[in-house]
This record gives sequence, structure tokens and C-alpha cells, in this order.
Amino acid sequence: MRRPGRGAGPAHDDGGVTVGASVDLRLADLHPALDDPALNSMNFLNEVAQDYPDAVSLAAGRPYEEFLDVAALPRYLDAFGRHLADDLGQGPEQVRRTLLQYGRTKGIVHHLVARNLAVDEGVTVDPEAIVVTVGCQEAMFLVLRALRAGPRDVLLAVAPTYVGLTGAARLLDLPVRPVTAGPSGVDPADLRAEVRRARAEGLRPRACYLMPDFANPSGTSIPLAGRRALLELAAEEDLLLIEDNPYGLFPAGDTRRLPTLKALDTARRVVYLGSFAKTVLPGARVGYVVADQRVAGRDGDVGLLADQLARIKSMVTVNTSAIAQAVVGGALLEHGCSLVDATARERAAYDRNLRHLVDGLRRRFPAGAPVRWTVPTGGFFVVLTVPFPVDDALLHRSAREYGVLWTPMAHFYDGGKPVRALRLSVSAVTPAQIDAGLDRLTALITDELSRRGATAPVG
Ligand SMILES: Cc1ncc(COP(=O)(O)O)c(C=O)c1O
Repeated sequence: MRRPGRGAGPAHDDGGVTVGASVDLRLADLHPALDDPALNSMNFLNEVAQDYPDAVSLAAGRPYEEFLDVAALPRYLDAFGRHLADDLGQGPEQVRRTLLQYGRTKGIVHHLVARNLAVDEGVTVDPEAIVVTVGCQEAMFLVLRALRAGPRDVLLAVAPTYVGLTGAARLLDLPVRPVTAGPSGVDPADLRAEVRRARAEGLRPRACYLMPDFANPSGTSIPLAGRRALLELAAEEDLLLIEDNPYGLFPAGDTRRLPTLKALDTARRVVYLGSFAKTVLPGARVGYVVADQRVAGRDGDVGLLADQLARIKSMVTVNTSAIAQAVVGGALLEHGCSLVDATARERAAYDRNLRHLVDGLRRRFPAGAPVRWTVPTGGFFVVLTVPFPVDDALLHRSAREYGVLWTPMAHFYDGGKPVRALRLSVSAVTPAQIDAGLDRLTALITDELSRRGATAPVG
């Protein structure tokens, strides 16, 4: 694994004057999170992909690139500019200012995001409760920063957990305690037990982070009854839920989309994180958070959590690029603010790929083979369980000797314990690439099994 350079060098001589010895810093003197596996995870996976450009990647959770269209950008910008003038009554100078100046901290497409949530999710939110962020990743960071008030605060997260969440929590010195996912996305008994255990230890569980729809990496979804039960449990235990939903628009086959937790939330228990990376384009780096929780100030004033998040944002990224927001805003406007409509082609491709991958696994590993996999009802990800530990060294070997990339599931668990599973993603590949990738992966697994003389049971 490549590490950031230490930057050592000889004393610098500038025109005959010795300016001084270069400064060496020690990683041990920087924030401890910088040495944490969670922060190395994304870089490591990107580096392996760069080192083996000819390998088939069943690792990347990126949207399918052929659908990303450079020619659409001016059209989107133009549509948003016209919207500012025609619908919001802005004159030419104001349009120029909105698009090109520093802008409103909470964003300039908040009203369109609110409309999108109403059209696609049946969620009614005050646009003032929305903060448009630099990707969903920033939204996560702002929420965790606001919630982490002191050393007794902890976050609960359904495990396996998206590594971006774990990394952000590490940077904020916010410990993450795992909650069992179980077969239906979250085990409510374990969640309740974790809340109570933390409180019994004198800790404050500030929220539970989870992905009810086609989760990354597990692919599981929480059924409707489970969602209602979760909201009841959150009320009983007085717990916030952080709902992250980047994949909800990609149900497979005739799977019906379920209401989000936010749609079922009548008590402002749910902080909702959204991303336009998979639905519009990842390069815009636009996401958002709905934070309609009321916050009482010291003087008795009551505001919105969104306003507190905006104060943090003003010190992190000032505001989300107006140009990037305009691109996303134009894409929303072009489709009547419905991303369900806008992503019909993507949904079909991901559905086809998911089926292709699962069928391909079934053909290559007939009943009785010591390999198991999940069959998700949507999203990008399938988890394959094998009877041997899957670590970064095996991924390197897979890339080098077999020409196929995937993600070790260990990256999504804390604690560095060996995990006998890997994540396969179908979003950035064609069916032919899936075939090639599965052939290569099958060869790796077969060799690994015979190397270990394994008839060991899966699990
Ligand atoms: C669960 C989850 N949340 C958040 C993100 C990050 O979204 P964004 O690209 O909008 O920052 C991802 C990206 O893969 C993700 O899988």
C-alpha cells in the first residue's frame, strides 16, 4: 500500500542563502485517524485499480460511465439559468451573481431538492431544512460534527458500514459501535441492546446510521414493517436515525420501492442524507441533508438543525459550487424534478447487470459448492461468502494473477478481524465484463480452495 510521502530532503539552498532544513513531520504527531484503516480504504482500492488498469473491476461502485454525457452540461446550465429568470424572477445581474458568485451557504437548489423529494419520495420538507452539500460525504461530516459534542458521545451504525461514514466519524473522534444487520437490514433487538449498553456505560448514543434501501455493501433492504418498528424503537429509546439513501432509485425487476424512513417519520427523528452522484453525475459532487430537527438555543430561540449544519459548512466548504448545483438543478428541471423518470435507463441497466451477475454465480457455483452469495432486490452490490479469509493481499493477487478486482468485506467492518466475504459491484460494467470478471474470480476461488485443500464449510 502506498503511503503519503514523508517529504524529507536536504537543506534547501536558495541563491546562496540556506533557507533551512526541510521540516519532517511524523504521522504519529498528526490526527490519529490518519493512521486508521478506514481512511486508507478508498485510496488503497483506487490504487489497486490504477496499478492494474486491465483488470475487470467488480469493485467500483461508480455509475455506468457511458450514461454520463458532457453535451448535457450546457443544456442543464441553461435550463437552470432560465429557471432563475423565468420562475424566480431574477434579472440578468442577479442570475450572474447566483451562478458565479459566492452563494447561499445552504445552497441554491434547495427548493428543487424539496420538489424532488415530494415527487419521488412523497416527503414534504421545508426547503429551509435542506443543506446542499459537496456530495453526501460532506453531509455526513456536517451531521456527525454537529452531533459529537463531547467525549461521551458515540454513534451506532449498522454493520457492515459504508467506510466513508466510519472514516468521517474517526476524523471527528466519534467512536462507532456496530449494530447487527441480520437478514432484514437491521436487528432491532440488537439496536435496542446497543443503545442501552452504551447508556449503561455512561455514554451518549447520538444516532444510528443506516441504509434502509439496497445498502452498501450488504445489498439488504429493510422491509416496510421493519421500518415502522425502527421508528417506534427510535421514539421509545429517544434516538435519532441517520438515513443514507444513495441507491433507493434502483430497485431490481418488479421490486416495489418502499417509503423511506423519512417518508414515515412524523416526529423529526430522521436526518436524511441524499446524493446526486448515482442519479445525476458524480463529478458534480452534489448531495444534501434534510435536517428538520428543532434546536433550542440558550436564549430559548428555536431554529433548525439545518441552520447549525450551515454554520459548520461555512467553515468547511463555504458553499457548494453554484455551477455544480446549477448542473444538478438543470437536470432536475429537465425531468420535472423526478429522478425516477430521469434514471429509467440506468435502472434497467443495473437490473440487467444484477440478474446477469447472480445467474452467472449460479452457473459457476452449483448447489453444494462452498460459496454463497446474496440476491439483493436492487442497488449495485452482491456479497459473496467463501470458506477462507479475504484480505487485501488476496485482492492484490487477484488483480495481478487473475485480472479481476472486487472489494474485501473487511473494509466495511471495524477491528481488522478477517472476514470471509467480498463485495461485487455491477454498476460500472457491461454483461460481457461481468462474464469475464466471474470467470476470473471463479478461477481464483477454485485455486484458493484447492491450495487450502478446502472442503471447509462456508461461513
Ligand atoms: C452509502 C453511501 N453514502 C454516501 C456515498 C457518497 O456519496 P457522494 O458521492 O454524494 O459523496 C456513497 C458513495 O458511494 C455511498 O455508497
